[in-house]
Amino acid sequence: MNCFLIAAVTADGFIARHPDDRSFDWTSLEDKKFYVDMIKQAGTVVMGRQTFGTFTRYPKGLQFVIYTREPASFQNPKPEVIDAWATQQSPAELLADLAKKGCTNVAICGGSSIYTMFMKSGLVTKLYLTVEPVLFGQGVSLFSDSLDQNLQLVEVKKLSDQTIVLEYDVLKA
Ligand SMILES: NC(=O)c1ccc[n+]([C@@H]2O[C@H](COP(=O)([O-])OP(=O)(O)OC[C@H]3O[C@@H](n4cnc5c(N)ncnc54)[C@H](OP(=O)(O)O)[C@@H]3O)[C@@H](O)[C@H]2O)c1
Repeated sequence: MNCFLIAAVTADGFIARHPDDRSFDWTSLEDKKFYVDMIKQAGTVVMGRQTFGTFTRYPKGLQFVIYTREPASFQNPKPEVIDAWATQQSPAELLADLAKKGCTNVAICGGSSIYTMFMKSGLVTKLYLTVEPVLFGQGVSLFSDSLDQNLQLVEVKKLSDQTIVLEYDVLKA
């Protein structure tokens, strides 16, 4: 299973000013395109309820798996466009279930708590970090707990003169 984490970060490592922030309000057009291309390629995206709540448009045909501790109260807002369901499974249980359904690519799309839970699980194989030329000083960090994880830089891709994507492989301990 190719399970990659994808995020846009400020030059000082934040993914949002506050939890209700929409990433699309401060990321570049080039990153928006990169993000949509990558999640379409994956086909299955995993995110927390807070992040899902910041979406106003949904690429057609994707499967959205939404983490919430109240799965019974979750409703797919666009059943005619996307497949979306709620879960509280561990990353290992979720990825095993997705693999049984034939998924081979899964994009972990945040926010902070979901990125952290998946990185700690040891099941993330790659990271794609878009670095945007902006500082927030404080806000929602990429990760919300301590980690001790070595990465290998695979590629630095320029999306424009201002925006780069860092592609990393996650090294096994
Ligand atoms: N720049 C980027 O690339 C990027 C990417 C993603 C998100 N963001 C930003 O990050 C912010 C949101 O991040 P966030 O960390 O505050 O929230 P989040 O991770 O999107 O969602 C948190 C919610 O996920 C559910 N959850 C978390 N852990 C769970 C678990 N183990 N089991 C079941 N449910 C669980 C809970 O939902 P319930 O409260 O329903 O129980 C929790 O309130 C937004 O501003 C968003 O725009 C930025």
